[in-house]
Amino acid sequence: MNNDATLCDIGFIGLGVMGKNLVLNLADNGYSIAAFDLDNEKVNAIIKQDALENTTTTARVVGCSSYTELLAKLKNPHLIVLSVPAGSPVDQVCESLIAAGIQGDDIIIDTGNSLWVDTVAREKKYKNNFIFFSSAVSGGEVGARFGPSLMPSGSPYAWTRIKPIWQAIAAKVDENTGKPLERTQPGEVINTGEPCATYIGPAGAGHYVKMVHNGIEYADMQIICEAYHMLRTGLNMSPEKIADIFEQWNKGLLDSYLMEISVEVLRHKAPSSEIPLVDLILDKAGQKGTGLWTAMSSLEVGCPAPTIAQAVYARSISSFKSLRIEAASIYTDTNKTDMSAEQQQTFIDNLHDAIYCAKICAYAQGFQLMKLAAKEHGWTLDFAGIAKIWRAGCIIRAVFLQSITAAYERNENLENLLLDDFFAEQLNKYQQSWRQSVANATLMGIPIGAISSSLAYFDAMRTAVLPANLLQGQRDYFGAHTFERIDKPQGKKYHVEWSSEQREIIAIESNPS
Ligand code: 6PG
Repeated sequence: MNNDATLCDIGFIGLGVMGKNLVLNLADNGYSIAAFDLDNEKVNAIIKQDALENTTTTARVVGCSSYTELLAKLKNPHLIVLSVPAGSPVDQVCESLIAAGIQGDDIIIDTGNSLWVDTVAREKKYKNNFIFFSSAVSGGEVGARFGPSLMPSGSPYAWTRIKPIWQAIAAKVDENTGKPLERTQPGEVINTGEPCATYIGPAGAGHYVKMVHNGIEYADMQIICEAYHMLRTGLNMSPEKIADIFEQWNKGLLDSYLMEISVEVLRHKAPSSEIPLVDLILDKAGQKGTGLWTAMSSLEVGCPAPTIAQAVYARSISSFKSLRIEAASIYTDTNKTDMSAEQQQTFIDNLHDAIYCAKICAYAQGFQLMKLAAKEHGWTLDFAGIAKIWRAGCIIRAVFLQSITAAYERNENLENLLLDDFFAEQLNKYQQSWRQSVANATLMGIPIGAISSSLAYFDAMRTAVLPANLLQGQRDYFGAHTFERIDKPQGKKYHVEWSSEQREIIAIESNPS
């Protein structure tokens, strides 16, 4: 280990929104940074910003104009953080660092939203050149600056070197209450509380967990947007009035970062006007892909995740703006019946319960997906630990995650959150108002795909006998795909000769193994 005091602790490549804020967070926590970006203006900007915020007498961040200079300014063995777009940019930087002379005991940490299978491949691809490690980061720019939720995975050896740094910069929660310990000022550090950074598992596991976090995030966001749509269109409420309702909801079961920022967005006025900004925002949603990856993975591993998938489809439907305008001129809208003040309040209360229940389903789907994926890929995931690091710092942070943490602390092998006593009690308590709210939306012609698909998911998952019996009969009729019988030993297959007069049921002998 080269301890030359003039050398920096950490190299940092990629000074975009997340990168520059992670650099300042690292600097606040006492680490010296050698910073590089292909855009030299970003290097100059971070040096300038650090000088503004730095209250110590020595520079905390030094700029580099090449990968070679970066390595030369770092203590050995090197520790380099990447914050670059997912995909080929990660490999371009790795190849450049190999060319610049990175060594075997050096560590590169990919903190982008990389696709987890790419991370698995990269650990193998670069293992003779350096240690490729990854740590997904959640919390947006404020989280990166003052405390993100971190999902590291890969070499356990690398984690021993990274752990103290990651636990210093991560968001913290009070060990007794589980409530976030907020950092808001440059230079501020928190050395107490539980850090929202825990080792997830082998390479790829951390990026998979982050991917599912984003899938849940998509669902959470869509559920809130559907509630907004119900109030805006169903009750003709102003954004400000809706913000007041959301603000009330944010003091109870629905207390969350996403609900909190939705209040801010709905209250915000367009510059020098009284027009709500939200009325000027085009209703076409973007997506960088992590929600899509989650939905695809749920189909691949056979995990029902309709709320997450609906949230992705909702973004896709929103992108067809001109088609929707044309279709709106073709189809008659449903009538919105006037409601008394009391009926409106019931409508609002039912809606509150509906989004709470839908949220439970979205998280149940996400956690079951992680469980099934872990089984398929041989990971051992700590679901209470994952819920714990999502209590602060990340985009889906919410009081609700305390209940999920408790559920997995009661039973670490819980197959699905729907089977947890607390959530079963909650869903039984609120399911009728959930149904009523879905009925309201249906009769009003308001699309609430995430909320209503959650109800369909809930009803299917709690139904002991589904119509798959007829489906098996259909499959056997046209494809001789066989079926099992409830009155025969499990696994025994049968087929009916549908084209024959007798249509006898034939027991299919299983192929000798
Ligand atoms: C986070 C966010 C973040 C997300 C971007 C873009 O955890 O900080 O999930 O990683 O990827 O906000 O997300 P979309 O463009 O896919 O909505």
